[in-house]
Parts: sequence; C-alpha cells; structure tokens
Amino acid sequence: MNSTSQDKSVIDRVLVLEMVRVTEKAAIAASDLIGRGDEKAADAAAVEAMRRAFDELYIDGTVVIGEGERDEAPMLYIGEKVGGAPGKGPKIDIALDPLEGTTITAKAGPNALAVLAAAEEGNLLNAPDVYMDKIAVGPGYPDDVISLDKTPTENVQAVAAAKGVQPKDIIVCVLDRPRHADLIAELRGLGCGVVLIGDGDVAGVIATTDEDTSIDLYMGQGGAPEGVLAAAALRCVGGQFNGRLVFRNADERARAAKWGIEDLDRIYKLHDLAKGDCIFAATGVTDGSLLKGVKRKKRANGERILTTETVVMRSSSGTVRWVRGEHRI
Ligand code: FBP
Repeated sequence: MNSTSQDKSVIDRVLVLEMVRVTEKAAIAASDLIGRGDEKAADAAAVEAMRRAFDELYIDGTVVIGEGERDEAPMLYIGEKVGGAPGKGPKIDIALDPLEGTTITAKAGPNALAVLAAAEEGNLLNAPDVYMDKIAVGPGYPDDVISLDKTPTENVQAVAAAKGVQPKDIIVCVLDRPRHADLIAELRGLGCGVVLIGDGDVAGVIATTDEDTSIDLYMGQGGAPEGVLAAAALRCVGGQFNGRLVFRNADERARAAKWGIEDLDRIYKLHDLAKGDCIFAATGVTDGSLLKGVKRKKRANGERILTTETVVMRSSSGTVRWVRGEHRI
C-alpha cells in the first residue's frame, strides 16, 4: 500500500464502509421483487433506495454513470448531484447500477447485484450507454497477456501459455446472446469450457479474479457502463481488462461525439476506465458466484431479519472486505 497516495486521496477510509450501506439498501429494496416478473418495479425500488441512501453520506457526489440521461431517468441520472454535503463534502464521482440484472431479479436467476464504484472527481470514464467489446483476465498474468487487437484464439493461447496449460483447459465466461455465436463456436473449437451466463457481466468479469469459479477469461459484448464498474473492481483486486466501445448506428455515434469521444476504436484499459483511488461495492440481490443474495428469516420468537452479503474494495490499499449484514425489520 502506498500511504502517501492514500493520504492525498479525497476518499476517506470511512467512506469505504459507508458505501456498503448504499448497496445494501438498494439490494434489500430490489429483493422484495425477486421472482415477481416485474423488471421495472425491481429496478425502480433499487434506484429509489440507493438515491435515499446517498443523502446520508457526507459527500458532494455526482453520478457519472447512472440510470440514463436526465430526460429518460427520474432518479440517479447522469449528472445528478447526490450526497448530503453539496458544496462542502469531498467531490466524488459515482458510477452505479442499483440493480445489475433486472431480468435476473424478475426471474429469480443467479448473480443479480446492487453495485457502485466511486472515485475522486474526473477519475471514472463517463461512458455512453452503448455496447462495449470486453475481455478480462484475473490477477497474476504478465502485462498485456490479453488484447482486443488479438483474435479470441490468440488470447486463449496466450493465457494458456502463461498459465502453463493447454487451450482446452481454459474456461471462458460469455453472455449467452446470439451475437456471440461465432465467439462461442471458436472457443469450443479450441476445446475451451464456455460458461454461458444469461445476464450480469459485472459478476462475469469479476469471476475471473476468483479461483473458486474456475473461470479464466471473460469475453464478449455487454454494456459499456457495466464495463466501467467491472474495471473499478479489477483495479482493486488485480487483473487485466480491455474494452472498446461499439457504435452500431449514427445515433450511437452522435452520442459518442456528445460524450467527447473522438477515437471510436480506442481500446480502454483499466486505468482509462477507472483511475486514481477508487472504491467498488456490490451487494448480492440473488445468490451468485460472488455473493449470496438477500435472505429473509423469521426466528422462533417472531423476530424477522434480513441478511445481506457485500464485497467492498479500495484500489489504493487493495483491501477487499466481505461484509455480512443482519438487519432487523
Ligand atoms: P440490466 O441489469 O440493465 O438488465 O443489464 C444486465 C446485462 O446483462 C449487463 O450485465 C450486460 O452488460 C448487459 O445487460 C448486456 O446487454 P444485452 O442484454 O442487451 O445483451
């Protein structure tokens, strides 16, 4: 840990744990809607709870990645000021997804999360809501072992060689989408194991950092905002990431110009997406590879409790904390 850089950071150590409350509240609110088939209601509950939780923090916060642009999202829109100390508290930029996995939650599937990343003003990429080509690998590999300039086969071969195994031993996580048919066929052609996930590529990317998942690589196209969130997590736990924005039509290209993006083919690495000291926090909504979901329990004496599981990390210290919460109703 570099104590000098931590001292200079506007991110207070206390803030790291405060962020746990924010994602916990969003996850608890969304959990009421698990399996109820209503994606919008689940998302709205999480958004509202997260919005209120921010007001309790002593920060002068700005949402840089949120629920959409001002005219399309009533709360937690891009540019919205959040926090209880406007003009006084530390200036913090926030990337958030109060419910990452709205469909998962509606269908009671795995890996729905309430998630956010926070950093000093100007340190998170203000990514437009377009797709992003992504590739990620966990910690311990030589620099630039992966690259979006290489083919999937070349990336798998490089990771296998660095790990001292055969390409057939490499396990790759991919979003189960028709657009990934060629990628999946190429990976299976190499003999790789392909873990197909229905949704939730923040958890998919983070899975590469956890040996228990057996997942070596994440590949494919998902949301660009989710790419920034995942990159913040990898900044804290280690690993490598490449992201390239995908502009499918003139409207999306116009959005790039509005965001000040000139090089449409740029490959973003971790520090391009989340730099400086940053915090990443995620609470499980439904059970997943990373976290257990919210559970409701009733004790013999009638007491009702909710349990939550949260991971919170800080890049300057590399500390990863697993927080199990017990909340009385
Ligand atoms: P939502 O929570 O907004 O539904 O996003 C879920 C998700 O699976 C993300 O994790 C992923 O980046 C994106 O959707 C992929 O988009 P699409 O469903 O259009 O393929």
